[in-house]
Amino acid sequence: MALIRNETAEDFRTVEELTRLAFWNVNVPGCDEHFLVHIMREHPDFIPELDFVIEEDGKIVGNVIYTKATLTERQTGEVKNILTFGPLSVLPEYQRKGYGKALLEHSFKKAAEMGYDTVVIFGNPENYVSRGFKNGSRYFVNLKDSESYPVALLVKELVPGALQGKKWIYHESKLFEPPYFVPGSPAQLEFEKTFPPLEKAYRHSQELFYIYSHGTVTL
Ligand SMILES: CC(C)(COP(=O)(O)OP(=O)(O)OC[C@H]1O[C@@H](n2cnc3c(N)ncnc32)[C@H](O)[C@@H]1OP(=O)(O)O)[C@@H](O)C(=O)NCCC(=O)NCCS
Repeated sequence: MALIRNETAEDFRTVEELTRLAFWNVNVPGCDEHFLVHIMREHPDFIPELDFVIEEDGKIVGNVIYTKATLTERQTGEVKNILTFGPLSVLPEYQRKGYGKALLEHSFKKAAEMGYDTVVIFGNPENYVSRGFKNGSRYFVNLKDSESYPVALLVKELVPGALQGKKWIYHESKLFEPPYFVPGSPAQLEFEKTFPPLEKAYRHSQELFYIYSHGTVTL
């Protein structure tokens, strides 16, 4: 039976290895997500209470990490503290068996207990609509003051009605941007050398990622 618990420092390398295996060649040739995991735990927007691993027979097979984010109301400038998650990773041989779902349902419950009412992510809608996520246009959550919403911008109300009656601009943590996270930085290249080599290759999922990350929904 699977066990979900908080990540500890002893798990860091295992989680970085599984993140690399989960994301390798999925969105682009290679991946950056394991380096992101490596650096994000030091950032003030990282939330240790919402950093979970899932174990099966004592082996860590998945992980989810949350960070602080905000929504700003378009008219009034009201700022609302919300959450985002990612990376969310399950080891390839354990995927599509419910581990990702279990990590998300567990973390949503904990997040709500901590007082959060909204989660916003960028993700493949196919993975998340069954977890209650809807496109940002459904809640008027966008990246800018526009009625054209990114397809991959997905919103879940942990408390129904939390976003109702307002229009919002989403801001994720600065940790995902330079200078904190610089894809392909010398530090990342050195980090990559500490793992066994994996071949970078094209996969059809990369075209899906391109479509989802460039597509828009217009109201
Ligand atoms: C995406 C990922 C985290 C999902 O975790 P998982 O344990 O494989 O997924 P689960 O078995 O919990 O299924 C989650 C949902 O995915 C969908 N799903 C499951 N099996 C599926 C399949 N064979 N085909 C299509 N969708 C499927 C379903 O909507 C399911 O929810 P439901 O059972 O309530 O309907 C995992 O596959 C992964 O690590 N992938 C590589 C890295 C990645 O893409 N991370 C997410 C970035 S957006």
